[in-house]
Amino acid sequence: MTSIYETLIRPLLFRLDAEAAHEAAAAALVLAGSLPGARALLSAAFAHSDPALETELWGLRFPNPVGLAAGFDKDARLAGVLPALGFGFIEVGTVTWDAQPGTLRPRLMRLPEARALLNRMGFNNAGAEAMAARLKALGARPVPLGVNIGLNKDADQDDAPALYAKTFARLSLFGDYFVVNVSSPNTQGLRLLQDKLKLERILLAIAGYNGDKKPVLVKLSPDLASESLEALMPLLSERAAGLVLCNTTIDPHLREAALEAGGRRREPAFQAGGLSGAPVREAALARVRQARALSPLPIIGVGGIFTAADAWEYLSAGASLVQVYSGLVYKGPGLPGQLCRGLVRLAREHGAAKVSPPRRAAEARA
Ligand SMILES: Cc1cc2nc3c(=O)[nH]c(=O)nc-3n(C[C@H](O)[C@H](O)[C@H](O)COP(=O)(O)O)c2cc1C
Repeated sequence: MTSIYETLIRPLLFRLDAEAAHEAAAAALVLAGSLPGARALLSAAFAHSDPALETELWGLRFPNPVGLAAGFDKDARLAGVLPALGFGFIEVGTVTWDAQPGTLRPRLMRLPEARALLNRMGFNNAGAEAMAARLKALGARPVPLGVNIGLNKDADQDDAPALYAKTFARLSLFGDYFVVNVSSPNTQGLRLLQDKLKLERILLAIAGYNGDKKPVLVKLSPDLASESLEALMPLLSERAAGLVLCNTTIDPHLREAALEAGGRRREPAFQAGGLSGAPVREAALARVRQARALSPLPIIGVGGIFTAADAWEYLSAGASLVQVYSGLVYKGPGLPGQLCRGLVRLAREHGAAKVSPPRRAAEARA
């Protein structure tokens, strides 16, 4: 069914440059969040709750398994209002130790024919100190909040362990789980940190500040070769609390196909950046299946989720939770509720009492 967002609001937003549209949507959400009673109204309009959706992981209670992916709320400006749209959890960031402006605009492009986005934002964010102040002011967190941590553009790779650890230490009080982002394609050299030794140093440095035993996850690229993922799994199983699979792709074939579909192959603005949305789904799902086959480590599945069937496929492949970004741009604020309703329906059709698979497995054993 086509929503009011898709018929009325999206055509207006899509007339704007993609980043300007994002800023307009964010401003509307900030305004809505500040009006008395508005959060309750939004929640009544959008959120869907059902005991079948509830799940527990890392000692945290998730009202549903549909979260907001990193990059939508880089500076935690919307973390107070986003749960009212029906998200079961929110991931803010990527935050870097120092504030930085990111890449020059334009840096976010739509490819509607491919149901995709292309971005080279480059970790534009206000830095760890500003994030700490915002999250402190937020106070109680209605749903679990993840903080996604990255590295400044001009940082020396050798300083990565200390910088990730310092950023984590500054923010650890204010998040429920943390994600070490070593997979964004728009910070030169960042993905080299997916190397086993480099990643181990980062995770050990963070562990030194993690007296509270906050769950620390690692977000990987869908472009990581399957042998590399396999080689990383023992380290990840030992030192990480979970995986976020996956970030955006720079696979040339996927990019070519998406640009071709939109007739954008020759446009300069479309020549660099990470691709998200429908084209990344199969690669991300393959990584989820592979990681699940190798380890019981909890997985947050992300990439190209537009429908409840897409989300169900991730959960069936072994993800415990899912996240959306591009889907939100194409389907609008009703998406989390639509996914939740559809997931409950799918669980019933499959005779499962719970939507999230670990519970299903536990019940099957009981
Ligand atoms: C504009 C944009 C900005 C993003 N920024 C970040 C980021 O700062 N950190 C990160 O880990 N992932 C970032 N991502 C990746 C998403 O979190 C997600 O992994 C990816 O887009 C795949 O999900 P999707 O197909 O639902 O969009 C960004 C994605 C987009 C489209």
